[in-house]
Amino acid sequence: MPHVAYVNGRYLPHAHAMVHIEDRGYQFSDGVYEYIAFYNRRLLDAELHFLRFNRSLREIEIASPVAPAALPIIIRELIARNGRDNGGLYIQVTRGVARRDHPFPKHTKSSLVMTVCAAKLPKEHEVKNGVKVITAPDLRWARRDIKSISLLANILAKQQASKHQAREAWLIEDNGTVGEGAASNAYIVSNGEVITHPTGHEILGGITRDVLLKLAKKAGIPVAERPFSAMEMKKATEAFLTSTSANVLPVVKIDDMTVGGGKPGPVTHKLQELYSAHVLRQTGKIL
Ligand SMILES: Cc1ncc(COP(=O)(O)O)c(C=O)c1O
Repeated sequence: MPHVAYVNGRYLPHAHAMVHIEDRGYQFSDGVYEYIAFYNRRLLDAELHFLRFNRSLREIEIASPVAPAALPIIIRELIARNGRDNGGLYIQVTRGVARRDHPFPKHTKSSLVMTVCAAKLPKEHEVKNGVKVITAPDLRWARRDIKSISLLANILAKQQASKHQAREAWLIEDNGTVGEGAASNAYIVSNGEVITHPTGHEILGGITRDVLLKLAKKAGIPVAERPFSAMEMKKATEAFLTSTSANVLPVVKIDDMTVGGGKPGPVTHKLQELYSAHVLRQTGKIL
């Protein structure tokens, strides 16, 4: 299968797709990104992803390198050139190439890189039987609502998770509450109610989170958007996580503690069904 990347107006073989060493993404992590899943060549929740992407750009004052209307056209072409029906799309914009100096360069055009990869769907046994997460201190900056390419703290937490054969690390804030995962949003279920951290500067407003909470509310499942403590987490009957690549994954173990007797619970199962139906409606894909 061809592997083609888009770099500042050109479609290039992935192996030869390069950016300059003075790109501020490379020098300073001065940029933002987005990850969108596509099935049957249809982007899932594209509008919501584009809204978040444009917001991230605005928040750090990077001008979009292409007209907003051009982006879907370039994406369609890139997916076609990669010959993939199902996969993931990374869009990354940096402040561009400039002599190394912290303040924004005056006349630099932002850089746009897009890549396509194979779909990152979770394994069947993870979807069915659930996954383990660990907890780790949240070492990130104070604007986690911006989908920044600066992911060092996330990487360190994920590496800890990986060392402990866990799927994810749930990040604990200084006040002892759970914010989100290193690359996903975090939820518990208590007395039938789904509890998850509210959006704001403290977490990334996940698109899967946004869609799922709407589906839950519509189905009459109670939802509380409030922080939950690590203590409260221990008493939860169910737990789960969401992201574009994980969809809705039951969490059955947190550190050494078993959740819900080590089996996914009925609320999580119902939410998995609702989300799968949403994906099917939009893209025709059976998860
Ligand atoms: C820190 C963080 N939180 C949450 C999410 C989930 O967001 P989404 O559902 O839009 O994939 C991600 C996804 O990459 C993430 O990196």
